[in-house]
Amino acid sequence: MSRNTIVLGCQWGDEGKGKIVDLLAADSDIIARFQGGANAGHTIVVGEKKYVLHLIPSGIVHPGKVCYIGNGVVLDPESFAEELNFLTKRGIDYAGRLWVSPATNLVLPYHKLIDSVQEKNRGIKSIGTTMRGIGPAYIDKVARCGIRVIDLFAPERLRKRLNYQLSVKAQYLTGSDDERADLDKIYDQLMGMVDMFQPLVTDVSQALFKAHREGKTILFEGAQGTMLDVDLGTYPFATSSNTTTGGALTGLGVGPKMIDEVVGVIKAYTTRVGAGPFPTELIDTTGEGLRKWGDEYGASTGRPRRCGWLDLVALRHAVRVNGLDSIAVTKLDVLDHFDEIKVCTSYTLNGNTLNEVPLDLSELSHVKPVYKTLPGWKEKSTSLTSFGDLGENARNYLKFVTDDLEVKIKLISTGPRREDTIMMD
Ligand code: GDP
Ligand code: IMO
Ligand code: MG
Repeated sequence: MSRNTIVLGCQWGDEGKGKIVDLLAADSDIIARFQGGANAGHTIVVGEKKYVLHLIPSGIVHPGKVCYIGNGVVLDPESFAEELNFLTKRGIDYAGRLWVSPATNLVLPYHKLIDSVQEKNRGIKSIGTTMRGIGPAYIDKVARCGIRVIDLFAPERLRKRLNYQLSVKAQYLTGSDDERADLDKIYDQLMGMVDMFQPLVTDVSQALFKAHREGKTILFEGAQGTMLDVDLGTYPFATSSNTTTGGALTGLGVGPKMIDEVVGVIKAYTTRVGAGPFPTELIDTTGEGLRKWGDEYGASTGRPRRCGWLDLVALRHAVRVNGLDSIAVTKLDVLDHFDEIKVCTSYTLNGNTLNEVPLDLSELSHVKPVYKTLPGWKEKSTSLTSFGDLGENARNYLKFVTDDLEVKIKLISTGPRREDTIMMD
């Protein structure tokens, strides 16, 4: 029986979604990416080989699995071409099993230029974006002036639209001799990519609907994390897409009844890249320890990730807004090194206790975390594959988390490789 599953991040991204999607892809026919762009960096480790994917669904590494990029994604054609080359070099044949929606908006060179100008203009209030042009591309999409994959097949109209876009964006581009604002260059580059896109374009919504009716199993892959959602995250320190369950539906053109399960990926502690509130952040040797043991450096930008303890208040929000059925807990092995482990169970704000995030999530920069301290296990959980083999304190830690969140654990990840996994189902 088909069992369609959404896999998405519950924190501020980099929870290990790539590994979990790759793992669950083994039992799926189709893997479909629904939002975000090349700001994502999803790492998959297969044996000695490591793959970092930005736009292409993490299922592509499995021979024979069919992958879709939905209309909710913003696709940078340069980054996409690089990724296709990377796959070819690594011996992964994607022909006939990678498809892109014609309604997918493109991230063009001027979006990346505007991203950097806007970040500079924000000064100390900068978001710390990935500089991948994500915000400016989604702005154009919502303003209904974006350039989409389908526009590549109407060159005259494309040129007119590009010309118009470059003129209305003059406030960011004037005086710039940056080739990222050069009409001829951008147009020629896009025209040079038409043949690359031609065999990949299909109506993704219709393809998924048909596959579902045929009983195929579909895995929906999210990027970023719940707390970076443009509506439900720590706005304005967020990305520009809906990273949560609703984004999976609109980003691929499917209805809610197609979804059987929503799996939230939760790192056993918390990390964040870029600016914005992070109540459990540790700016001390414990935080450095998490970064060191967890190798917490951005898969896309190489930036050191900010690290801190698990935040159950933020995760209650993720359970609720996504309608989670289960969680995949990753990087449990990183906590092997700690004598004691703290978990944030509530916040205080102006003398009041908060068990849920405030309506205005920007207030998270003023809350103080209240911690429950649990004993560490100081035993190796790396590469364990059976729940019973985990130390008692590790099992208690997981129980504490699931009792609070009232969701079941689907799997526990104990290392980066596929086989470093405890399956609970
Ligand atoms: P994503 O963006 O959510 O796909 O996550 P990233 O790939 O950006 O970051 C997760 C990092 O943790 C990658 O380097 C993974 O290889 C690694 N990783 C995933 N699961 C585990 C785990 O259980 N233990 C350890 N130690 N590393 C893991
Ligand atoms: P994956 O899919 C972690 C963060 C950026 C910045 C904010 C806005 O690998 O989990 P953007 O470039 O999207 O306008 O930046 O969002 N961010 C991520 N952080 N993982 C990601 O993706 C991220 N994608 C964006 O650091 O704070
Ligand atoms: Mg990542």
